[in-house]
Amino acid sequence: MIQPNMLKKLPQLLVLLMAILSYSCSSKKTESRITSDFNKDWYFTLADSTLDASNPTFDDSHWRQLRLPHDWSIEGEFSQDNPAGVGGGALPGGIGWYRKSFVVPKADSAKNIFIDFDGVYMNSEVWINGELLGKRPNGYISFRYELTPHLKFGEENVVAVKVNNSAQPNSRWYSGSGIYRNVRLVKTSDVFVDHWGAKVTTPEVSKSQAKVRIALQINNRGDAGEVNVINTVVDQNGKTIAELSEVQNLQTGTNQLTYDMAVQAPHLWSVADPFMHKVITKIENESGELDTYETPLGFRFYEFDSEKGFVLNGEQLKILGVCNHHDLGALGAAVNTRALQRQLEIMKEMGVNGIRTAHNPPAPELLALCDSMGFIVMDEVFDMWAKKKSEYDYSLYWDEWHEKDLVDFIKRDQNHPSIFVWSIGNEILEQWDSTGITIAKELADRVRELDDRPITSALNDPQPHNNIYKSGALDIVGFNYSHKLYEDFQKNFPGEVFIATETTSALATRGHYDMPSDTIKRWPIRWDLEFTEGNADNTVSAYDHVSTPWGSTHEETWKIMKEHDFLTGMYIWTGFDYLGEPTPYGWPSRSSYFGIVDLAGFPKDAYYMYQSEWTDKDVLHVFPHWNWAEGEAVDIWAYYNNADEVELFLNGESQGIRKKERDDLHVVWRIPFEAGTLKAISRKDGKEVLTKEIKTAGAAAQIELLADRNSIQADGKDLSFVTVKVLDKDGNLVPNAANLIEFELKGNGKIIAVDNGDPTSMEAFQAKQRKAFKGLALVVIQSDEVKGEIKLIAKSEGLTQKSLTIGTH
Ligand code: GAL
Repeated sequence: MIQPNMLKKLPQLLVLLMAILSYSCSSKKTESRITSDFNKDWYFTLADSTLDASNPTFDDSHWRQLRLPHDWSIEGEFSQDNPAGVGGGALPGGIGWYRKSFVVPKADSAKNIFIDFDGVYMNSEVWINGELLGKRPNGYISFRYELTPHLKFGEENVVAVKVNNSAQPNSRWYSGSGIYRNVRLVKTSDVFVDHWGAKVTTPEVSKSQAKVRIALQINNRGDAGEVNVINTVVDQNGKTIAELSEVQNLQTGTNQLTYDMAVQAPHLWSVADPFMHKVITKIENESGELDTYETPLGFRFYEFDSEKGFVLNGEQLKILGVCNHHDLGALGAAVNTRALQRQLEIMKEMGVNGIRTAHNPPAPELLALCDSMGFIVMDEVFDMWAKKKSEYDYSLYWDEWHEKDLVDFIKRDQNHPSIFVWSIGNEILEQWDSTGITIAKELADRVRELDDRPITSALNDPQPHNNIYKSGALDIVGFNYSHKLYEDFQKNFPGEVFIATETTSALATRGHYDMPSDTIKRWPIRWDLEFTEGNADNTVSAYDHVSTPWGSTHEETWKIMKEHDFLTGMYIWTGFDYLGEPTPYGWPSRSSYFGIVDLAGFPKDAYYMYQSEWTDKDVLHVFPHWNWAEGEAVDIWAYYNNADEVELFLNGESQGIRKKERDDLHVVWRIPFEAGTLKAISRKDGKEVLTKEIKTAGAAAQIELLADRNSIQADGKDLSFVTVKVLDKDGNLVPNAANLIEFELKGNGKIIAVDNGDPTSMEAFQAKQRKAFKGLALVVIQSDEVKGEIKLIAKSEGLTQKSLTIGTH
């Protein structure tokens, strides 16, 4: 008999039926380990603390159906009253519940079944069929629960997750809320490599040969006894370069096994050629394959040297890094591989070769991308230890959880060749008292038991008296800021290795230019003093961005860093703007000003300073725009490289040739504004290298749409980031345009976010319209799972509309 509440649940029942059908089609009996995406068809609601939806019979039919990863905060409205404050992005927290019904076929009743969460912010509790599997306060850590003893095979099972992000503030930046990373279901036979149970290292690597060590933790729950363990090293092109097969007598329970293999002339991993390998471990017996497990591997050797700095594969390499928080701008914290990849592509294009995961374990996808794209990662675990930085932060859980979180962090990440340094904490308050000594030692000892990579901590009092330094626990002394102390490092810390864990914290908004006189009016006095120091004649404009009292301009830190080999490298605060921490501003600012690239992914000017210094590409970047009041004195800057000089012309008349002298990183002209065309030409040995023109823009007349990719995968995940430009009738960007643009989408996809990079915008990110900010806006389009076409149409009052087609395959 059909009950009325069954009708309400019809969509869920259909989903279940489809799951059973698709499962029976896709599952192959011969596969020993099946890892499946467990992100689809969750039901979600926001609730108060009285709700208990853990019971499997709970009626969730009125909840919203969604696909993970999901961040409910980013869907909310900005408000000064949200308890996270502007520091947390002024978006709501709260309590959310997620539930998912699923069937594991009877045929799998002999399997072991696990659920893996990459990250849930925060305080998650997970139930299966009403039984509590566990809780996890840390919002950035990955964890697994075993479902096997609680499952009803061939029947409906319900997993319920409560996420409690209601105690606020608990973060100094935007955290996001919910199951914001991926979830997987893992099925194994009775003989399987344990969770994070493979550790692949290269105890010896040189250009001529390498030794690969594979340490496995194999769980034997049955009576397998004798098995064959086959380890194969395969390169990224699928070529087998080494193989070892050994017969092993497994004991019941846990087996620790180690294998060594030799590889001749390994293709080394580097930032320029991040050539990847993997180890495929197969366990078999006479009845067939029992498990297959893959572990990433990269061959590289390196040292951090107190004189030579960082040396990778025998060659000195300055680490040119950025710190980034985990949010993906308008997408919030909900992880998306393409969005991460786009961020890394934008960084790579600027010349960045390092990423610091400030200040928490990242999404595993980020590390896989850093492996394959070639970044030197500093993987950081904590922003605080036992002493709190915000009222309800992780310090509350420190005593009970820090050891487990630290160990899980190392075990999860240790096989990534892109990780070169572990950071056990950022600006830890214990550095100012003796507990800094004991805790630093405890953490570093624990890390060293698991892995031999160097350990640092980002110290914001980087002096020899620092307790964390004094603990002797660090391999590398991590400086946050204090660039004026860099040159004394070898004197103050004889024999030690330096790294700038965090630098700069300069402030800028993309497309916004203060002339020197305006700057003095606009910035609070403290910032002003810092800014004007040394610039009493006001001949230098604010274009290299105003610095924080603790930081520097972009140029200041880099000028010192590039001078000395012993300065191994730097991680700039930050590559991208991030939600929250709009220092020095308060409401209505709700995102940061520190990024070299804005929240929407549009570069600010400093991007090109780094590009001119950090890459071999020809660069000529001239700014600002050319729309000013007639006669106003305007500073024009140019960043360039691969040239000896730049000549600037205004309406055909030369304004002079400029050359970088001494340690200059830019050239400057000051000329009275006159409408028309600015043209800059860079030359080497008298020959033209690049030409740039900036024209005075007329009234906004048309829209331009530029997709970062015109063809994306029809997998329901892939993205196309479309830049929207407001142009005048001649095609010039209108530099102050703020037109409201409306978007319409047809076909096989949807608009999942819009942005413009304005840190004070109160407009929703999940919308079909956005005002331009300084002439630009962004639309993020996601494919659905149907191959075909997506058509984006952009309209704005008074402007010629524009459309763009994206293929999905
Ligand atoms: C640092 C801190 C970062 C960020 C930055 C802003 O001291 O480590 O998380 O707050 O300051 O300048």
